[in-house]
Amino acid sequence: MNQDTKPMIVTCGLPYANGMAHLGHMRTYVPADIYVRSQKKQGREVVFICGSDTHGTPVVVNAEKEGITPKELVTIYHKHFSDIFTRMGIRFDAYGTTDDEENHIRTTEIVQKLIDGGYVYSKNIDIAYCPRCDRFLPDRYVEGVCPHCGAIARGDECDQGCKKPLYPGELIDPRCAVCKNPAEYRSQEHRFFKLSEFDGFLKEYLETLNGTDNAVNYAKGWVAQGLEDWCITRNMDWGVKFPNADGLVVYVWVDAPIGYIAFTEEWAKDGNDSWEKFWKNNTDGTLNSQNSRIVHFIGGDIVYHHCIFWPAMLKGAGYALPTDVVASGMVKIEDKKFSKSRGYVVWVGEDYLDRGFHPDLLRFYLACYTSHTKELNFGWEMLQEKINSELVAVLGNLFYRSLLFAFKNFGAVPNGTARPEILEKIKQTTTEAVKAMEEYEFKKYSDTVMELASYANTYFQSHEPWALIKTDKEKCGEVVYNCLQLVKALTVLFEPVTPGKMQEAWTQLGLKGNAADTLYEEALVPLVPESKLGTPEILFTKLENDKIAEMDEIAKKRVHSAMKEAGLVPDEEKVLEDSKKEKGSKDKAPKCACAAGEKMDGENTNESALLPEITIDDFFKAQIKVGKILSAEIIEKSTKLYKIMVDVGEETPRQIVSGIRAYYEAEHLVGKTVCVIVNLKAAKLCGVQSQGMILAADDGSGSVSLLMPDQELKPGSDVC
Ligand code: MSP
Ligand code: ZN
Repeated sequence: MNQDTKPMIVTCGLPYANGMAHLGHMRTYVPADIYVRSQKKQGREVVFICGSDTHGTPVVVNAEKEGITPKELVTIYHKHFSDIFTRMGIRFDAYGTTDDEENHIRTTEIVQKLIDGGYVYSKNIDIAYCPRCDRFLPDRYVEGVCPHCGAIARGDECDQGCKKPLYPGELIDPRCAVCKNPAEYRSQEHRFFKLSEFDGFLKEYLETLNGTDNAVNYAKGWVAQGLEDWCITRNMDWGVKFPNADGLVVYVWVDAPIGYIAFTEEWAKDGNDSWEKFWKNNTDGTLNSQNSRIVHFIGGDIVYHHCIFWPAMLKGAGYALPTDVVASGMVKIEDKKFSKSRGYVVWVGEDYLDRGFHPDLLRFYLACYTSHTKELNFGWEMLQEKINSELVAVLGNLFYRSLLFAFKNFGAVPNGTARPEILEKIKQTTTEAVKAMEEYEFKKYSDTVMELASYANTYFQSHEPWALIKTDKEKCGEVVYNCLQLVKALTVLFEPVTPGKMQEAWTQLGLKGNAADTLYEEALVPLVPESKLGTPEILFTKLENDKIAEMDEIAKKRVHSAMKEAGLVPDEEKVLEDSKKEKGSKDKAPKCACAAGEKMDGENTNESALLPEITIDDFFKAQIKVGKILSAEIIEKSTKLYKIMVDVGEETPRQIVSGIRAYYEAEHLVGKTVCVIVNLKAAKLCGVQSQGMILAADDGSGSVSLLMPDQELKPGSDVC
């Protein structure tokens, strides 16, 4: 079956129904919604599926904190997420919960299939147990030291360090997350899924898996490192009961992705359609033979679950396999790692929508600011800049000037014909934009469309319709007709990104039906001369400085009170004092390549403008030399680091650990002439000795570049 005609399921990582929606979440849902809208515009059959993740310790821990039952908690947040999605223009065809009956039934069925297939066995393992709280501590109930990288981690995942999933009993020095007392390990019988048996299958499968490189390549790396069997039971009441195992529920990462299937069933029931055509289509186990496309949109933090656990489970139970895994880079706030407890968070409801910001602006920013796989920095001023310079100055300007001019001078679409070169330009743009979309390059999609808007602005400007109207009304009509044709094409092309605003434009153009239901090919269909236009109105207005300053203030206050709560800022004077002290010491590190993205003791920051003044003597304390990179290899325990050997003119090369893996391929580093701080105190990163620091610059939006002399210099030359 041709790729184009296969029915397609698009899913999004299910939000935990244990707290409010924030901007980080939206980076999964907005691009997925844009993608689905674009698929529909190509006339494809596509079903868009999501739901709330209601099980697991994140939910139980928060319910306990709030003094309500898990069911009560998830009911509140399920509704919250549902509402936010509607307000953001994210239109799922089904939005269920993993506690729905369909999911309990489907999970039990799949787990039973895995048991029957011989993929599940029992084993006694050590589970953290808190003597003080008198209970077993699954997943987030326990904290300790990651056995792989030494970072502080929680029971199920090294969330701050190497990001590896962790298994019960693996954490070193476990502590109870509730009472903070040391926990002990006690032996208990659990069920394991034979993930290791899927090694050969996964290797082959990952060769055919589409999606973004960050997902596919990381997954290949993990499989190459060897797979461990996976503990799929937990001691809890809340969840899907494990068949024939008293007191155990299935691990949340088993029943959550099965939700994708269960919600498809719910959708099918509602519309009298079939879920099997997506998930059960007589696959012989190879992706090429599969008669459906299954596309998962997720954040970069849950690649392991979607590219390793999930396909193995599906394969073991005889279901169709994901064909594409699309992983976004993570969202940072004001250049700081997302952290609710530190106040680096922007809530979609209370900080954005409730304050009157239009959802389309955020959609545009989240999807089109930087490439999908890169980290995305959110700052209010950055939002303002992006909106004002593109949506307002380019797209909005073209729409309003064209529609207003046509409305005032002609009252309708003027008589005219679409010029061949304009139709050709629209056609080219559409082809290029759709290609970018198929490659999950949302920024490229938007840039391509914006380029057409700039072309249209130039067309308007250079043909001077305001002068022509006085001398040659007919010729003026021709020009305006072509401007409106461009506006129409842009409306179709940009509808996936800013659906609300493009619907308004559609109405202003006097067109019938919905922009959302219009296929891409409609962009080339000429407007009907003399058809009535709607009343023109400005689509995008500037985000003003005072509004942005107000939002900045709110963000600052939030960080401040979070720090205060954490006991980090007892009073105002101390804030200043501390910030001075801090700037003077550890904030130096984040600028360097060694710290880019890797969790050290501080977080990345680009606030160098606030550093206190230094003397020339201070500067010369750092000894910087020119070095030549001899080799670079991946540090397996880390996702971000390279071990780099650099010749700095000494007898033996220096070994330096550097966090530039996300920005440079290892083979491209070899031979580069760089700048190295050579008198930095040696340190161990991920267990690897580092004897210096390679300098790099970070523009704060995900572009990192090594600092290099602009001509070839001998290793060991002084930088001064
Ligand atoms: N419940 C799991 C997913 C189960 S899928 C079978 C989960 N929930 S979550 O609420 O933490 O995240 C929901 C989605 O938002 C995921 O796709 C996740 O990757 C994404 N993001 C959450 N925070 C994020 C950032 N700060 N940045 C980018 N995306 C992140 O994970
Ligand atoms: Zn770790």
